[in-house]
Amino acid sequence: MNRNIPFLDLVTPHVELEEELVHVFRKALHTAGFIGGAALQNFEKNFAEFCQTNECVGVASGTDALLLAFLAGGIHPGETVLTVANTFIATAEAITQAGAVPEFVDIEEGTYTMDAQELRRYLESCPSDPVTGKRLSRRTGNPITAVVPVHLYGQMADMDSIMEIADEFGLQVYEDACQAHGAKYFSQRENRWLTAGSIGRAAAFSFYPGKNLGACGEAGAVTTNDPEIARKVRILRDHGQPRKYFHEAIGYNGRLDSIQAGILDVKLKHLSRWTEQRRAAAKVYDKLLSEIEGIFLPLERENFLSVYHLYVIHTRERDSIQQKLTKKGIGTGIHYPVPLHLQPAYAFLGYGEGDLPVTEASAAMTLSLPMYPNISSQDQEYVAQVLSCAMEEAIVTV
Ligand SMILES: Cc1ncc(COP(=O)(O)O)c(C=O)c1O
Repeated sequence: MNRNIPFLDLVTPHVELEEELVHVFRKALHTAGFIGGAALQNFEKNFAEFCQTNECVGVASGTDALLLAFLAGGIHPGETVLTVANTFIATAEAITQAGAVPEFVDIEEGTYTMDAQELRRYLESCPSDPVTGKRLSRRTGNPITAVVPVHLYGQMADMDSIMEIADEFGLQVYEDACQAHGAKYFSQRENRWLTAGSIGRAAAFSFYPGKNLGACGEAGAVTTNDPEIARKVRILRDHGQPRKYFHEAIGYNGRLDSIQAGILDVKLKHLSRWTEQRRAAAKVYDKLLSEIEGIFLPLERENFLSVYHLYVIHTRERDSIQQKLTKKGIGTGIHYPVPLHLQPAYAFLGYGEGDLPVTEASAAMTLSLPMYPNISSQDQEYVAQVLSCAMEEAIVTV
């Protein structure tokens, strides 16, 4: 008999915390505390502590967090910013919204995050500006001023290598940590564990409902150790005003609602436990799926701690396997089916097929399995069973 295993279970954690979450809402109703105030300040303080940063500034979404971090940190129109094409479009959108031009570096097999060797190779192939010494994009001639590694699926990019390259080429680093709340790695450079969001000039988090830490609506945050960046983001998120009706800059309506901040603060207390549960579920999948022919499992780099926002396998039989899983009641996702360099929205950049071979191969093979803290091992066994049969059938058919 078919089971019904959702790709994501957003109901259970909210029902478990219902009383506390409703209390947040009730308190806001009774005090009319909808914007700013203690709920926002408490969450910002607690999330900064969680990320081991000095500052956290709540904003309206992960996309706003990226954009405001770029603007506050100093990315300017006419500059080129390097990132990956295997990400949600918001990473590149925010670069474009800041007036800069995104360019894409290929990813590593296994972790599917930015390939630091490719980053170096590309930078070394670019000419230098004789005055500033900055590398100039081979595509546009723009100065390359920043790099945005994405900590994808819950695992951090190879930050030691990326930071080293960024230092060498004078690039600012902004982390897209939207999928990596609490991810860590042991830095050989610093000889200590570092947390996602604490390494670059600034970092962006999304609290979209399906994220490891999700709001009951839209929300995001910028983390940074630089008080000046935090100050600027605080101003930019609020129409450029340090004080009501005094506008220092042309800003945005990019504030984090107090109700969402209060909800996030309640959920933050449970995040480490949920991460442990996700990691345990990932280990169960690793074990159950390791013997299935034709499937590539996600690679957790040594001395890295993934928070398994997604559990992503790769197989050449992706489309038929996904159909079979759907028929058997198993929800799946594809992150992401079309890499950004091949999206119509970015056609103007002039990329074509074959430009990012690892990214393109990954997009054709990637499949995200059900993953959430409360997934049961029986459900995971069922997923593995169905997957195993589907793979056998697919391989026989080929
Ligand atoms: C890698 C990445 N960057 C940016 C974003 C944008 O976040 P939001 O949807 O909160 O704007 C997301 C969220 O989907 C994401 O996964």
